[in-house]
Amino acid sequence: MIIQIILALFLFMFYLLVVKPLVPMIKLKIQFGDDCLIRYHLFGGELWQALKEMKTSKDLFKSHRDLYLKHPYKILVSNFLWRVRISVADPEYYKLMLLNHQYYTKINIINHDNVIKKGLVFSMGEKWKSQRQLLSESFEYDQLKSRLPMINEVCLEKINQISGDNVLQFLELITGQIVIRSFFGKSAEGVKINNKEIQIEIADLLNDMGELRFKSKYFFIKSFFLGTKGWNFFPTQNEKQLLQRVSEMRLAIEKLIQKRIVEIEIKMDENENDIKSRETDFLDVLIKEYLKSKQQGSQKITIDEIIQQFTTLFFAGTDTTAVLSYHCLYFLAQNPEIQQEIREEVLTICKNDSVLDDKIKQLHKLSAFINEVLRIKNPAVRLLIRQCNQTHKVKDLTIQKGWNVIIDYQFQQLLSKHFSNPEKFDYKRWLETEPIKENHQFVYLPFSSGPRNCIGQHMAQMEAKIILSQILRKFQIIINQDVNVRWAARFLYQLQPENCVKLQKL
Ligand code: HEM
Repeated sequence: MIIQIILALFLFMFYLLVVKPLVPMIKLKIQFGDDCLIRYHLFGGELWQALKEMKTSKDLFKSHRDLYLKHPYKILVSNFLWRVRISVADPEYYKLMLLNHQYYTKINIINHDNVIKKGLVFSMGEKWKSQRQLLSESFEYDQLKSRLPMINEVCLEKINQISGDNVLQFLELITGQIVIRSFFGKSAEGVKINNKEIQIEIADLLNDMGELRFKSKYFFIKSFFLGTKGWNFFPTQNEKQLLQRVSEMRLAIEKLIQKRIVEIEIKMDENENDIKSRETDFLDVLIKEYLKSKQQGSQKITIDEIIQQFTTLFFAGTDTTAVLSYHCLYFLAQNPEIQQEIREEVLTICKNDSVLDDKIKQLHKLSAFINEVLRIKNPAVRLLIRQCNQTHKVKDLTIQKGWNVIIDYQFQQLLSKHFSNPEKFDYKRWLETEPIKENHQFVYLPFSSGPRNCIGQHMAQMEAKIILSQILRKFQIIINQDVNVRWAARFLYQLQPENCVKLQKL
């Protein structure tokens, strides 16, 4: 009897860990031949390898990039235990996948229900559609233009207060303050959580939570089997502290929201039906919708969703732009002649303190430089993994429900058929009339593409241009020779440590 049980268990495990992932992998290999690479691991070796590389490698994505350049595959199929993971790198396939986004649920990196799950990045279906529609207007050109004086003001204020050598944190203070002012207006100024400025604590908390999956195998395995319930299953001291910080963060944000609701309600009482007159920041837009749905007795949008939407926009808007600006500073420091060329452009065009729309449009070299940094070191590379929620076909490729899906659109920008000397950092390529050869519109996608592309892409670019212009006017950017540079991942793919460059007053 015992032998039969052991045998049954063995057969079940053999089916689960070998047959289940390997059969579709072999089928795909037969179908796609050389265009398909397969990497089978009995116990998820690839992921352990990635966790190890996180600690040791100088560039986390180098081995993957090298693999692609050696074998430019259409699809790469691997597995973690029984779950198949498919990376799609061929534009003919991924352009359809980006358009038909409804088949793929994004895997929540933070793996927690009360932080960003209900916000724009992770929501799905009708919920996503209505959130996207509601927020789109706030990201339109005219609205963004009206925020440029504020962005300049924040930059100058923070530049005047700069202290210490943590350049990335200095940039996060700027971008965080900009997101906060775009969301809460001035009302969030000076708010602290755990004695840290609100923007620093939110960024730290989200990064600490996102990083946990790389740092703790225990947490990784709990999350794999239990999903978000993993947080409650024998939490470690560190996990308990993170949960406590989540509660404190939510409480602080809720206080700000309640305060704004009171302000808006008073305004409505003074001038009945006039909620419109206060449409100045993201929060107004969401609260207006909340009050409208409350009046109608519906639950279209809740306070919890507003908290999560704020955290989402904060997470999506703060670190991304700060890290991009940090990467730009690093390449400026590495290339002093380029730094001088771009500084001269900035000084010639922006004579006054503020870098406003008319000036931004003339900063061609700076724009080209940012494009090149995004081509070579985009912080959002391989940011989100998806899970297929319905078996479907993409051309001749069948993607099964439950498979993990990675849309690998960043490799095209490394190919010589699209860029001459693709490995060279050459910002001037973007000053040419046709910088991309054989451009089929899906070659260079730093902000992704399709309906779920980055809603904040114009805001991010304007912000980065203002931040870099203001820094270039006041500082010489130099390499910090005392640190060992690594391209690693916290939440984003980013340069570490946080003081790889120094800012020296001009
Ligand atoms: C350098 C700066 C930025 C980069 C490189 C970047 C990149 C991206 C990428 C690649 C995506 C698609 C992710 C995916 O689906 O796999 C995305 C989505 C998104 N981004 Fe950005 N982003 C940046 C800045 C911003 C800013 C400043 C905001 C807002 C304040 C923002 C808000 C969002 C949101 C809300 C989404 C989800 C959109 C949706 O699913 O409908 N991003 N971003």
